[in-house]
Amino acid sequence: MRIILLGAPGAGKGTQAQFIMERYGIPQISTGDMLRAAVKAGTPLGIEAKKVMDAGQLVSDELIIGLVKERIAQDDCVKGFLLDGFPRTIPQADAMTENGIDVDYVIEIDVPDEEIVKRMSGRRVHPGSGRVYHVVYNPPKEDGKDDITGEELAIRPDDEETTVRKRLDIYHEQTKPLVDFYGKVAAAGNTEYHKFDGTKAVSVVSEELASILK
Ligand code: AP5
Repeated sequence: MRIILLGAPGAGKGTQAQFIMERYGIPQISTGDMLRAAVKAGTPLGIEAKKVMDAGQLVSDELIIGLVKERIAQDDCVKGFLLDGFPRTIPQADAMTENGIDVDYVIEIDVPDEEIVKRMSGRRVHPGSGRVYHVVYNPPKEDGKDDITGEELAIRPDDEETTVRKRLDIYHEQTKPLVDFYGKVAAAGNTEYHKFDGTKAVSVVSEELASILK
């Protein structure tokens, strides 16, 4: 099963990726998590990416395409994978086509911008795993602590309102065109395209997703 999760920053891609990973046993490939791991490790890629990410901009297509190609070639992706945050531009989607990487499902999670801005102020993440929580809508079992490790949760540096608004502008400019792109792919062949209302409760969105994934 190969799945792409599409949606604005904060639409709930990472949250639903956790659900799909657990339910279907396929790995989540989150380009954002991969970049944040490189930032944490202080690699040359991480140092370069940090500036771009903190400013709410996109990392170069060339760099991201290389990262994803390498990740998809690993053994755990043989039975499928879930792409979270990739592709995010038309050149990234073209690179998948050029490399013969087909997908079974494209899942769009739709949330209005103003709702996203409100949501981001309450997001908390577990830096080690990328697990995502929300102080009101999806709280951890113990306040401020990751459910699995008990480690401290953190606020992402790019969740500040001005940066979130910049990320939303970039989403509308560069990522939203993928809705049309994959609409056409779906019309032409074996890929299913499904759009979900991401303003519903986390568990409701998960149930709706499960109803279409075979
Ligand atoms: P990335 O980490 O991919 O960020 P993003 O796409 O902006 O998405 P987010 O992780 O912010 O949101 P999400 O949709 O996963 O929402 P979440 O589930 O956390 O990318 C970060 C940066 O890396 C980019 O800005 C860019 O610089 C770079 N980058 C990454 N990939 C790239 C690429 N391919 N090309 C170039 N650059 C790239 O949910 C948000 C909050 O809402 C949480 O608190 C959650 O608990 C809550 N929530 C979720 N669902 C619901 C719900 N149904 N109701 C209420 N609350 C909910």
